[in-house]
Amino acid sequence: MCGIVGYVGSSEAAPILLDGLSKLEYRGYDSAGIAVFDGENIKIEKTPGRLNALVEMTHDGKLLPGHMGIGHTRWATHGKATVENAHPHYNPSMTIAVVHNGIIENYMELRAKMERKGFAFRSETDTEVVAMMLDYYNTGDPVETIIKVMHRVEGSYALGIMFKELPGKMFAARKNSPLIVGKGTDGNYIASDVPAILKYTRDVYYIKDEEIAEITEDGISFFNIDAEEIEEELHTIEWDTNSADKGGYEFYMMKEMMEQPEVIRNTLNPHIVKGDIVFDELKISDEDLRGISRIHIAACGSAYHAGITGKYVIEGMARIPVEVDLASEFRYRNPILDKNAVLICVSQSGETADTLEAMRVASRAGVPTWSIVNAQGSTMTRESDVTIYTNAGPEISVATTKAYSAQIAVFYLLAMKFADAKGLLSAEDKKSYIDDLKRLPEQVEMLLNNKERIQKFANRYVSARDVFFIGRGLDYAIALEASLKLKEISYLHAEAYAAGELKHGTISLIENNTLVTALVTQDELYDKMISNVVEVKSRGAFVMAVTSVGHTDIEEHADYVLYVPETNKYFTNSLAIIPLQLFAYYVSAGKGYDVDHPRNLAKSVTVE
Ligand code: G6P
Repeated sequence: MCGIVGYVGSSEAAPILLDGLSKLEYRGYDSAGIAVFDGENIKIEKTPGRLNALVEMTHDGKLLPGHMGIGHTRWATHGKATVENAHPHYNPSMTIAVVHNGIIENYMELRAKMERKGFAFRSETDTEVVAMMLDYYNTGDPVETIIKVMHRVEGSYALGIMFKELPGKMFAARKNSPLIVGKGTDGNYIASDVPAILKYTRDVYYIKDEEIAEITEDGISFFNIDAEEIEEELHTIEWDTNSADKGGYEFYMMKEMMEQPEVIRNTLNPHIVKGDIVFDELKISDEDLRGISRIHIAACGSAYHAGITGKYVIEGMARIPVEVDLASEFRYRNPILDKNAVLICVSQSGETADTLEAMRVASRAGVPTWSIVNAQGSTMTRESDVTIYTNAGPEISVATTKAYSAQIAVFYLLAMKFADAKGLLSAEDKKSYIDDLKRLPEQVEMLLNNKERIQKFANRYVSARDVFFIGRGLDYAIALEASLKLKEISYLHAEAYAAGELKHGTISLIENNTLVTALVTQDELYDKMISNVVEVKSRGAFVMAVTSVGHTDIEEHADYVLYVPETNKYFTNSLAIIPLQLFAYYVSAGKGYDVDHPRNLAKSVTVE
């Protein structure tokens, strides 16, 4: 995901910005830029590619002298990695410079408005609209101007802003995207993440949602959205620089798990507009959606498991038959493909060889191809007819967590879109599903906040031999993903079984104290699952149950119970997977393994 750094003080700004951005490289990026104010003019340099190119272009920053500046590393979301799309962005007269993390969801509408007012845009980004609006709404009072823009933009943002008319003053504002202000001795800083400024200061303020900071060489003031000055508490960062590169976490996997509330929000929000599900990228009418007779899903690994969740949710809500295939099977099984079908490929990287080939098989058969992809501009996005992006940001840990969570969120939205087009979604259900979707990020956050309890439990299982995961329906989809997560990073033998199938094999493997994780979130299958819990208990299993709050009677049967908040029956996977990701993580970390780089596995499998 993108990174921000800013500085105002007595030192040269550019070298500090370049150094700060280098500390954010771990987040992944595809272009970088800085803007420096020399007291008279704002100068901007930016380039696609690595930060080194920017360092060379600016002669280590020497070509941009000045004591105040903002910098950015961009991970493309709206528009490719080009010079024009790189940040900082600026208004036509180059008197205002802006860097931005997050997504301005209503930027199309705002851009059209600004264009009507005569502003000529240079980029395809959502961010540029902020620079234009700061110009258009400029009252001469910067805080007031920024607030006017904040009132009009929807979505998430962390912003760093400089105005030519205000030498020595830098501004920052945020909503749903992290931003800190660092208090130094030779000046003050802003940054999206601590590592960017840790070399210069450990004293930081956390800007809260809908707050603005005004920063000068020796002063920092904070304002709320009513322009009232407020106090913020100064915190001291205790991290060492190494751990800070991972946002303070020991492994990227933990950092990425913790990002899930934000990622789910960023994936859902652009598609929920005024109480409706919107998928502009599909470029298809409701009538054509109704004409789709069958959906094929092809993917690998966790993306395949996301597809299985997709099958249950789409079939349940929209009553369209869905076939899910491992991409490596689909490509060779000579699938029967109807022209009225679509193939949806799911992939974090957008480069997985088997998934790409599955897409080409469908394409050759004249079947429309859609892809659900995380990596902007990847091969799959170029080759598929339609791309739906998961806004998860770069994922570094080999074992996926946040990209998977974003993929299943897209399936919920697609299922609702299909169901709505087919007239199967009542206005009442639509509203209540949307309310449930909007609650998911904070429910995921609650579960993540409870991670110490899972850690204690996981510590007991670091020397386990076999672990089983059982579930029915959507719970089976989660069992598959939870089992994969555990085996790939902890090297334990883990197996997922459809609970009704136990008697046909797996139950013979249950011994005294074998850990069986029972997923029990589906009300209509609750009693059936209790029977399966009793079956394995009576063969000596230790049962950990994952169920929704309120089902306390399960404690009579299970040895250990994890409760997840209540949501719609279709969306429980987003919640139930969280404690099980944490479980896998803690078993692996407890065994002393390199959680992010499990042996023999690669993040992106570009060979067959
Ligand atoms: C590899 C990764 C998995 C991932 C799978 C599919 O096996 O280790 O975490 O789920 O590839 O990758 P994709 O990029 O297509 O989602």
